[in-house]
Amino acid sequence: MTRSRSRTRPTEPRVDAAAARAFGRKLRAWYRRNARDLPWRRTRDAYEILVSELMLQQTQVSRVVTRYGEFLERFPTLADVGRARPARVMAAWEGLGYYARARNLHKLARQVTAGGQSPDAELPADPVELRALPGIGAYTAGAVASFAYERRAALVDTNVARVLKRVFAPTVNIKTTSGARMVWHIAESILPRTGRATWTHNQALMELGALVCTARVAHCGRCPVRSVCRSAKPGDRVAP
Ligand code: ADE
Repeated sequence: MTRSRSRTRPTEPRVDAAAARAFGRKLRAWYRRNARDLPWRRTRDAYEILVSELMLQQTQVSRVVTRYGEFLERFPTLADVGRARPARVMAAWEGLGYYARARNLHKLARQVTAGGQSPDAELPADPVELRALPGIGAYTAGAVASFAYERRAALVDTNVARVLKRVFAPTVNIKTTSGARMVWHIAESILPRTGRATWTHNQALMELGALVCTARVAHCGRCPVRSVCRSAKPGDRVAP
């Protein structure tokens, strides 16, 4: 779906520009005061961010914190993964499950670093180029582009989709293809102006979904964006 086609769709919810700006301002201010200090938020290394995002796709944050550090000790660079035998990479992933993630990481590393022979080869910064690599979907491409390269790229995973739906488009069914597309459209339309602010904005969206606007309970009473949210209720709200 190209941007121009998606813009012409009549069913897409319009996001008011002033509401989007207020949402972003409040969200980022809250993040600066409340964000967890997580190791992948201290780096701008694209490989390290890719490893964290792949692990976080199916595994809890607390578990990833330990395994992420261990993995990077064994494989400090993308080229180290690229020249390793697949069995060694799989062994470092042991216990995390969903081993396709590790297999794809190995394939990607071999491809980008020519089997470890090009140690300076880097992951691309452009989300479209990132998506062409093994195991990288739209979410991961947006995460690497914005978190490593501070590109102005959107990202939507299930947590972000839930937050954006509740705030901007309560009637959208995010489980349908068209609903998911609408949420991506919203995510793109509310990006801040700069890449640097986008880093904070995207981390903050994930953090709000993890700590406040959770799947089972929307803690509206302590939500920093409740004044601009279309689903806000006084106090906590058990999600429908
Ligand atoms: N889940 C996926 N990406 C994350 C991130 N950058 N921080 C916290 N949780 C995440």
